[in-house]
Amino acid sequence: MADKTINELCAALVEKREKAAQGGGAKAIAKQHEKGKMTARERIDAILDPGSFVEIDEFVEHRCVNFGLEKTIFPGDGVVTGYGTIEGRLVYLFSQDFTVMGGSLGEQHAAKICKVLDLALTNGAPFIGINDSGGARIQEAVDALSGYGNIFFRNVKASGIIPQFSIISGPCAGGAVYSPALTDFIFMVDKIGIMHITGPAVIKSVTGEDVTSEQIGGAKAHNSTSGCAHFFANNETECYAQVRRVLSYLPSNNMEEPPFKDTNDDPSRMDMSLRDMVPTNPNKGYDVRDVIKKVVDNADFCEVQELYARNIVTGFARVGGRVIGIIANQANFMAGCLDIDASDKASRHIRICDAYNIPIVTFEDVPGYLPGLKQEMGGIIRHGAKLLYAYSEATAPKITIVLRKAYGGSYIGMSSRHLGADAVLSWPQAEIAVMGAEGAANIIFRKEVEAAEDKAATRAKLIDEYKEAFANPYFAASRGYVDRVILPEETRPALYQALLMTETKSELRPKRKHGVMPN
Ligand code: HXC
Repeated sequence: MADKTINELCAALVEKREKAAQGGGAKAIAKQHEKGKMTARERIDAILDPGSFVEIDEFVEHRCVNFGLEKTIFPGDGVVTGYGTIEGRLVYLFSQDFTVMGGSLGEQHAAKICKVLDLALTNGAPFIGINDSGGARIQEAVDALSGYGNIFFRNVKASGIIPQFSIISGPCAGGAVYSPALTDFIFMVDKIGIMHITGPAVIKSVTGEDVTSEQIGGAKAHNSTSGCAHFFANNETECYAQVRRVLSYLPSNNMEEPPFKDTNDDPSRMDMSLRDMVPTNPNKGYDVRDVIKKVVDNADFCEVQELYARNIVTGFARVGGRVIGIIANQANFMAGCLDIDASDKASRHIRICDAYNIPIVTFEDVPGYLPGLKQEMGGIIRHGAKLLYAYSEATAPKITIVLRKAYGGSYIGMSSRHLGADAVLSWPQAEIAVMGAEGAANIIFRKEVEAAEDKAATRAKLIDEYKEAFANPYFAASRGYVDRVILPEETRPALYQALLMTETKSELRPKRKHGVMPN
């Protein structure tokens, strides 16, 4: 046989590429679109900068010879992998192709994911996984399971070194959910993203409960109730824009600083409207996000876990172009008290910020821990301890702004000086004390009130005395626990100054393998 010409060889390559790009074929692609889902490649195009994607391993095939699978070979093995850029920054990613054997994960499919994850780690670049899969490829038996194990191992190895994002834009079931769960952020697309350990049929047979997939695994369920997801998107386009936005706040790896961006908003800008935002009456609510938006650059606040544990607000923003991570008690929801879910949500966000050198800014207005049997027996002790642990462990700059209430144990827990805050600022209406005036009067003045002729008047007088003595920031300031009492309108410039003041922070702790975080 005559040698093939270079043009023939090139034509053969082009043909092979075209076949690989078709995934499961035109019919399967049409079915994917009918389900309201983009294809694996369309998703990559929607996330990355146009034309930046470089595919690798497009000709990888499975090696399974069970149950006739040897006759079902698709180049790429049901997952598209490679690298590209977002806003010019390198990222690695995989996108499962449901049109090929339901995006099921076999040995080679998993090996492709592991290869890009290894490359992301060694090159210090973020990693994005797009999940749309029927789970472990049943025909590949334990080889498929080993594939998952290999991915989990790498997710953990890369944790805190490179940002890892998981997108759920299709099914993600059984143990497969644990790769996303081991990454930093889970983005779920409404209606098409489903994530659960056991599906409705298994639940029905084991517990007798009648549930739908949406109820146990939908984007709404995981964003608002279970807390397993961090971002809710109405559709895929919205989801991929969220991914790009969140990445804009994170460095590519833990050795870099978060990306500075010229936001064209004067950091010394003062805002008088802040004076009227937080009522001086400690029992009145307000939306702390209004305060945050007035303080940060261009009112641009990227909220994380917006729908979960709404008594605490977490997110990212910029001040003077510098990225900050935000933790804020939300007076408008459960009076901003700390409970199990809020402690979990906040401590996780603190650790993410700390891992990626993002200054942690805390807006504090906290009445205490939520009382009740459910909280005590749910383990508020160990969950609440996470908050103390995460703040104390964090060596990124920590800046606290006491807006109003800062009572008791929750005062300590919300990034107090005592847990290593670098700067503590306070508004004049702050009440930094063991508890509110009324509660305190009930305990320490009980005998005096009982003995008095006019009990109500005596009680009111004693409450006033307590307020005068302790329901203010000045007692804490006199001890140096608060560095500066500021006018509300001075918050933005004061925060910016504190950010500059802590820019060169370097805090070394005794060497250890790792701490034992309460869980
Ligand atoms: C092999 C699979 C598959 C799987 C789907 N397919 N899941 N092949 N292994 N796990 C194939 C189907 O046979 C079908 O092939 C094609 O993908 C499309 O699937 P459909 O069922 O037609 O699609 P749809 O109706 O949209 O239903 C999607 C689905 C369903 C809900 C995901 O396919 C399903 O229930 N699959 C099984 C899910 C499962 O139990 N997986 C194991 C989970 S346990 P054809 O040739 O007909 O087009 C697990 C353990 C991980 O993952 C452990 C980690 C430690």
